[in-house]
Amino acid sequence: LEGLRTLQYRGYDSAGIAVTGKNGIKTNRSLVLADLSKKTLEGTTGIGHTRWATKGEVTVENAHPFMDCKKEIALVHNGTIDNYLEIRSSLKNHKFNSETDSEVILHLIEDNYSGDLKGAVRKATDRLKGTYAMGVIRKGSKEIIVTKKEKSLVLGMGKNQALAASDSVAMAGKADRIAYLDEEDLAVLSPDGIRVYDKSMKEKTLEFEKLSEKETATKGAYKHYMLKEIMEQPEIIKRLFEEKMRLRTPGRVFLVACGTAYHAALIGKYILEKDKIEASAEVASEFRYREFPVKENDTFMAISQSGETADTLAALRQAKKLGMKTIALVNVPTSIIAREADIISLTRAGPEISVASTKAFTSQIAALYSMVWGTKTLKQVPDKINMILNKSDEIKRLAIRYKDCKNFLFIGRGLNYPIALEGALKLKEITYIHAEGYPAGEMKHGPIAMVTPETGIVAIAVKDKLHEKMVSNISEVKARKGKVLAIATEGDEEIKHYATDVIYIPKIDESQYPLLTAVVMQLFAYYTADALGREIDRPRNLAKSVTVE
Ligand code: M6R
Repeated sequence: LEGLRTLQYRGYDSAGIAVTGKNGIKTNRSLVLADLSKKTLEGTTGIGHTRWATKGEVTVENAHPFMDCKKEIALVHNGTIDNYLEIRSSLKNHKFNSETDSEVILHLIEDNYSGDLKGAVRKATDRLKGTYAMGVIRKGSKEIIVTKKEKSLVLGMGKNQALAASDSVAMAGKADRIAYLDEEDLAVLSPDGIRVYDKSMKEKTLEFEKLSEKETATKGAYKHYMLKEIMEQPEIIKRLFEEKMRLRTPGRVFLVACGTAYHAALIGKYILEKDKIEASAEVASEFRYREFPVKENDTFMAISQSGETADTLAALRQAKKLGMKTIALVNVPTSIIAREADIISLTRAGPEISVASTKAFTSQIAALYSMVWGTKTLKQVPDKINMILNKSDEIKRLAIRYKDCKNFLFIGRGLNYPIALEGALKLKEITYIHAEGYPAGEMKHGPIAMVTPETGIVAIAVKDKLHEKMVSNISEVKARKGKVLAIATEGDEEIKHYATDVIYIPKIDESQYPLLTAVVMQLFAYYTADALGREIDRPRNLAKSVTVE
């Protein structure tokens, strides 16, 4: 249960455990992990799971572990099985109790079992199309069979115990040494140790390394992790002052990521181009399926907080296959993306617990700045972010004033266009209010039709070379009765004539504004969500790490 608590960043829709003891296998499943501790299960061999629903609704019936028809085998599974409908219809004599794809694996194992559980698991996996990391136990046996394909699975050895988990963080205090299982290998865990087999079931040896302590995080006096993580940003940027890695290449750079990290990639593209490096920012779920001519010296950079995002990982593997040099810009040094890339650059933001990414985002931008321009450009940033954090109450007041808007449009230009996208993403994921980010110049090509007195428009209008253009875009939406909240540079009195409300931020070098405007976006989303009483650190339908495609 302790291990499962640490793994909830991968999904918190439901949780469950199965333990084999004197009276066979007993399971306990619930939509709330904390409820599992209300019932005691006896035994020394067990498996557990936290779910992020893919196939089948969020119900107790669809929560793992699953049991076979004879109630003798139990299974937990991460990943997706693409051919599950075909398998399910071929298993005519089996009774299915869930709508999940995972349950077919269990019945396949049951079908293939004749005294050798690991052999049955291997035969079952031979029929699967898709991805998996799974754990299987059998009534009366002290063994756990685990195997994986394209999903992470770590093995751990501790005093009188063998463990396996999706992340070594779940083994803290239990395992002393860990090893990562290779693709499609299978391991048998028992009180005597761990035996590993390759795809052809030939036994092999695996090197175990010492488990290093990972940083843990607490909320401290803050109401939410998100607020605490926003407040940590000045110190995190200071840590990057030590960063030495510089990006110099005669070739093109593909910055590939998902969600918030993709917005950092967009900023990376702008700044690499300023430095005359040809660059593109790509959404990983698109990049992985694109067909494009690869050129000599092309570099691929995965940007990811967790280093576990399924699409970003698949894009990295695709890039390696295409012969590109690969860099991982990640926050978690032991993550799978960090392990598979040729070069690692760390964002050093410490554990980010809130589902809404904040400090990871600014640390990604700061790391990209330092890669391109060196760290001296960052020196002023921490103090200026602190000045914005000191204005939290003012931002809170404005968030309360705008919280009842039915729709939001976030607009910006140049380096602040990705920040407009990020502002909209932040707001929608934690408040559930519809919000879109747009390059301000695009407004009259469609989005301006959305503007009514109930639309909130957040306009990033700092003093940069595109300032005048932004001011005309603000006037255009104001003329259509939209409520405009402008983010402007200290001293810009004129903006007050155009906007409904203004949040001032300190003056800084033009290229650094994203690091300041991002913080305003985060605080605005946070206080709006808080005023609406939302579940801020764990918004509905989301997971911190998106480990399925
Ligand atoms: O761990 P990653 O940076 O690869 O995660 C990418 C996205 O899933 C993540 O940024 C997501 O969009 C956040 N919920 C945004 O706040």
